[in-house]
Amino acid sequence: MAIELTPLPLPPSAEPSKFETFGREVKGINPGNCTIEQLEEIKQALYRHEVLFFHNVVLTPEQQLKLTKAFDPDSEIYGHGGKLGSEKSSILHSALQAIPRVPQVQLIGNGMLYNHEGLAETRLKHLTHKTFHKTVVSTEDEQKGFTRFYRWHIDAALYDLSPPRVTTLYAVRVPEGPNQICRYDDGTGDELDVPLATTAFISGQTMFQLLPPELKSVAVRAEVKYAPHPYVWMAPARAKSTGLGIVSEGLETPLDQLPPWAEDKIKTHPMLWRNPVTNMLSLQVHPCGAIELIVSPIPSGAAREGALYPDGARITDLEEVRDLLDRMQRPAIAPNLVYPHKWSNNDLILFHNRGVLHTVVGTLQPNQMRVYHQCNLAASDDPTGPSNEDISQWA
Ligand SMILES: [Fe+2]
Repeated sequence: MAIELTPLPLPPSAEPSKFETFGREVKGINPGNCTIEQLEEIKQALYRHEVLFFHNVVLTPEQQLKLTKAFDPDSEIYGHGGKLGSEKSSILHSALQAIPRVPQVQLIGNGMLYNHEGLAETRLKHLTHKTFHKTVVSTEDEQKGFTRFYRWHIDAALYDLSPPRVTTLYAVRVPEGPNQICRYDDGTGDELDVPLATTAFISGQTMFQLLPPELKSVAVRAEVKYAPHPYVWMAPARAKSTGLGIVSEGLETPLDQLPPWAEDKIKTHPMLWRNPVTNMLSLQVHPCGAIELIVSPIPSGAAREGALYPDGARITDLEEVRDLLDRMQRPAIAPNLVYPHKWSNNDLILFHNRGVLHTVVGTLQPNQMRVYHQCNLAASDDPTGPSNEDISQWA
């Protein structure tokens, strides 16, 4: 039986014209036990629509791993590798807990959890902007329901390992409570009504398409170099109020104080990643981990008038790196471009990790239980950048 795809239920805040191809609900099949043909249709749909949502399905951790691996049969280990727990200074350390019999599937959420998938007792801690942003929402405003995006990101180690193609996120238990108002607090007055503890998604394709020509030209010519052990490197630093990148105040861990690292394991990726099915370009940068931008010169024969960095550039000043990235990325997280999913128990979301950015949102009290199973696998290859045709079109 062919799979049935219907548009995602968009909130009133979302601009429908920007979500025409983005996101689909998949109906009529069991994602934990589907035929090879159905699996192939799911894979195609994921690349065409970036986010797939299955409502009210039963999925064991083993089935979740199998589904995730189907997108990259040669992948094996968790997206952040198998030794995440030993990196105690990583900002991810407290957020992830492997399920013992299927360690590629991680438990995330909030509250005390007992006898769950082989874990006798686990304390899950919701990631809140209060432990990561430079400024925070006051307790008084928090009580009124104001909150923030936590951290816009790609799921990827960004050191040694290749960014996973897909992440699967299964809601075992969703906290109940009123919607919150996510504030951007960046002087724009932007804010977004969000379901409690939502996961918010934005499109990397839209991020690219929104850019003016001179920034499209930079994007198609640029590569992003990431810091070694980026999550240890960024740990002492503090993020912007939008959750989109770090404030530059020199707080990053000095490179010579990081765990041992090797130059050849450092990741440098194109700024634009090419969708393997549609060939569309997505602007895919984890702004917190970027340490340097490398821009190629304008190709010979292309117009140089109005071009930025026409002779190419190596941008190593962190403030300049981050200012440029913010100029390119901030427009795409505008409230009308964000899809904040309203989760129910047993919802499953598959997202194209090479085509979207996402973030957890919101503030939870210690007794508000949130339990999710998350799986992604370090990919068997690196993302593909723009083709020669893309470069001649956009440079
Ligand atoms: Fe994530």
